[in-house]
Amino acid sequence: MRILLETKSLTKVFETGFFKRIVVKAVDDVSIILSEGEIVSLVGQSGSGKTTLAKMILRLLEPTSGDIFFQGRNVWKDLKTLEDFKWYWKNVHAVFQNPYASFNPFYKIDRVLHQALMLIGIDPDSPEGDRVIREALEVVGLRPDETLGKYPHQLSGGQLQRILISRAWIIKPKLLLADEPVSMLDVSTRGKILELFDILRKNLGTTIVFITHDLGLAYAISDRILVMYKGKIVEEGSPDKVILNPEHEYTKELLKSVPTLYKKWS
Ligand SMILES: Nc1ncnc2c1ncn2[C@@H]1O[C@H](COP(=O)(O)OP(=O)(O)OP(=O)(O)O)[C@@H](O)[C@H]1O
Ligand SMILES: [Mg+2]
Repeated sequence: MRILLETKSLTKVFETGFFKRIVVKAVDDVSIILSEGEIVSLVGQSGSGKTTLAKMILRLLEPTSGDIFFQGRNVWKDLKTLEDFKWYWKNVHAVFQNPYASFNPFYKIDRVLHQALMLIGIDPDSPEGDRVIREALEVVGLRPDETLGKYPHQLSGGQLQRILISRAWIIKPKLLLADEPVSMLDVSTRGKILELFDILRKNLGTTIVFITHDLGLAYAISDRILVMYKGKIVEEGSPDKVILNPEHEYTKELLKSVPTLYKKWS
C-alpha cells in the first residue's frame, strides 16, 4: 500500500500555569505511517494526546518539533499559497468529538455545507450544489427539508454531528480524521455512520483515522490499532494482535477497564 501520511518525531509541548510553569508533553516523539485506504484506530485514555496529534495533522496546532508529510509534502513547511492550503483542506478533513464547536451559532447550518461545496469547486447556489447537499444529508439519514435553513441551536448534537459527516461526504477527502465521531449518536445511527466510513474507504480509498475510547469498536472496524499513552505510541498492530494479545502493560490495563469486552474475548 502507498504511504499517504507520515509523521516524523512529532512533538507538542504545552506550557501553561499562571503562578507555576506547567509543562506538558502532549505528543512525544511520535512517528507513524498511514497508508492509502486503511482504517486506523487511535486509542488511549483521556489526556494521552490523541486530539493533539490529530490537530497537528490538520494544521490547527503547530508542532513544537518534528515533521508531517502528506503525499510527500511537508505540511508545516511546504504549504505557502492559498492554493496549497485549499489542496490540503480538501484532502485532509476532520469530524470532531464536539459538533457544537464546528458551527457558528449566528449562521444557518447550510453555511458549512456551502463552504464544502466551494472547496470542491461547486457553486452552492447552482442546482447541482443543491442536489449534492440534499444527497449528502440523505446519506447520513437526515431529511434535507427539515434540516436546511435551521440554526445550530435548533438541532440536536447528534444531528449536528451527522451534518459534519455529510460535509466530509461532500468533500471526500483522502484522509479523514474522526475524533470520537459517533459517541453522541444512538446505536442505529452509529452503525449507519460506520457503514458510510466503510463506503468512503471502499469506493474512494479514503484513509480513516478513528479516535475512540471504544475498544470494541476499534477491534471491529480497524485494519490497525495504535495505542497512545502519555503522548507516545506504545503499541501498534492488527486488532487481533493489540486487543487479543497485547504486549504493552498499558494496553493490558486499558483492556482490563473494559470488563465485558474482555470477558467476551478471553
Ligand atoms: N491547548 C492546550 N493547552 C495546554 N494543555 C493542553 C492543551 N490541549 C491539550 N492539552 C493537554 O495535552 C494533553 C493531551 O490532551 P489531548 O486533548 O490531546 O488528549 P486526548 O487523548 O485527546 O484526550 P480525550 O480522550 O479526553 O479526548 C492533556 O494533558 C491536555 O491537558
Ligand atoms: Mg481528545
